[in-house]
Amino acid sequence: MKPHPVTAPTLTESELGEIRTLIEHRSAILLDSSRERFFSTRVREYLEEKGLPSGTDLLRQVRGSSIEYEALLERLLTQETSFFRYPAVYEALEKTILPEVQERKFWDNPRTLRIWSAGCSTGEEPYSIAISVCDALKFAEAWEVEILATDISRKALRHAERGTYSKRSLQDVSLGQVENYFTAGKHGYQVKPRIRRMISFVQMNLVESVYVGRIDCIFCMNVLMYFSDERRLAILRRFYDALEPGGYFLLGHAETLSNVPMKFEPVVIGDCRLYRKPGAAEASARRVPAVAEGAS
Ligand SMILES: C[S@@+](CC[C@H](N)C(=O)[O-])C[C@H]1O[C@@H](n2cnc3c(N)ncnc32)[C@H](O)[C@@H]1O
Repeated sequence: MKPHPVTAPTLTESELGEIRTLIEHRSAILLDSSRERFFSTRVREYLEEKGLPSGTDLLRQVRGSSIEYEALLERLLTQETSFFRYPAVYEALEKTILPEVQERKFWDNPRTLRIWSAGCSTGEEPYSIAISVCDALKFAEAWEVEILATDISRKALRHAERGTYSKRSLQDVSLGQVENYFTAGKHGYQVKPRIRRMISFVQMNLVESVYVGRIDCIFCMNVLMYFSDERRLAILRRFYDALEPGGYFLLGHAETLSNVPMKFEPVVIGDCRLYRKPGAAEASARRVPAVAEGAS
C-alpha cells in the first residue's frame, strides 16, 4: 500500500516553479499561466497519491530517477484524441495527398509511402491514417507503407500498441470500416493485425533530434501548441527537412503556421488547410524512368 501522510502535503509557489522549469527543460512542454490551474492541481494530486510530504520531496525524486520523472510527466500531458478527429483532413489525405504521391512515385522501385504521426497519443490518429491508406491506395500490395507513430508518453504508446478501443470511441469510424479493420472481442474492438503491422510505435521526445528518414506526410496535430515559439520553430525546421519535396504537413484545426522561415506552401482543401513543401515538380522530373530517357 502507498504511504499516506497524516497532514496534507505542502506545495509552495517556488516548488511549483522549480517543477515547471524541470518539465519545460526536459520535455519542452510549456506550463505557462494559461495552464497554471491544471498544472498545480495535477502536481498536488500526484503528491497526495505518492504520499509525499512536500514539493521538495517530489523534486528530489524526479531529479534522481528518470522513472519518477516520467511518472510525473505522464500526469501533465494532455492526450485527448479520437478516430478521424478532423474528417476533412482524412478526405484530403485520400483525395489529394495519396493520389499525388501515387503519381509522383509511380516509377519508384520500391514504391514507398511513409507517414509520420508525431504526438500520436493512444493511437487513434495513426490507425485512422492506416485505414484511410487502405481505403484509398490503389494497388496497395505494390507499396511499402510505413506509418511512424511517435509520442513522449510510454503509457499512451502501450495503449496504442494494444490497439483495443471501446465501442464509443469508434463513433466516427464507419460501419464498413469497423467490419473491415476491427475484431470485436471481450475487451472492446481490436484493430486487425494487417493494420497494426503498418504502424511502428516509437517513444520519441520531439525536442530531441532523431533521424527518421524521408517522410511523405507529417501529421502533428494539437501538439506544437504546448511548446514555446523557439522550440516550435526548431521542431518545424526538422519536420521541413524530413519531408520529401511535395510532401505535406498537417496541423490541428485551430493551428496555423505563421511567421516561419520555412517555405511551406499553404494549400486549402475544403475545410482543411495543409502545408506543402515545394519542389514536387523537380522531384518528379528526376524520377522519369530510364527507358523513357533512352528513347528520346
Ligand atoms: C492532445 S494530444 C494530440 C493527439 C493527436 N495528435 C490528435 O490530434 O488527436 C498531444 C500529444 O502530444 C504528446 N506530446 C507532448 N509533448 C511531447 C513531446 N515533447 N514529444 C512528443 N510527444 C509529445 C502528448 O503525450 C500527447 O499524446
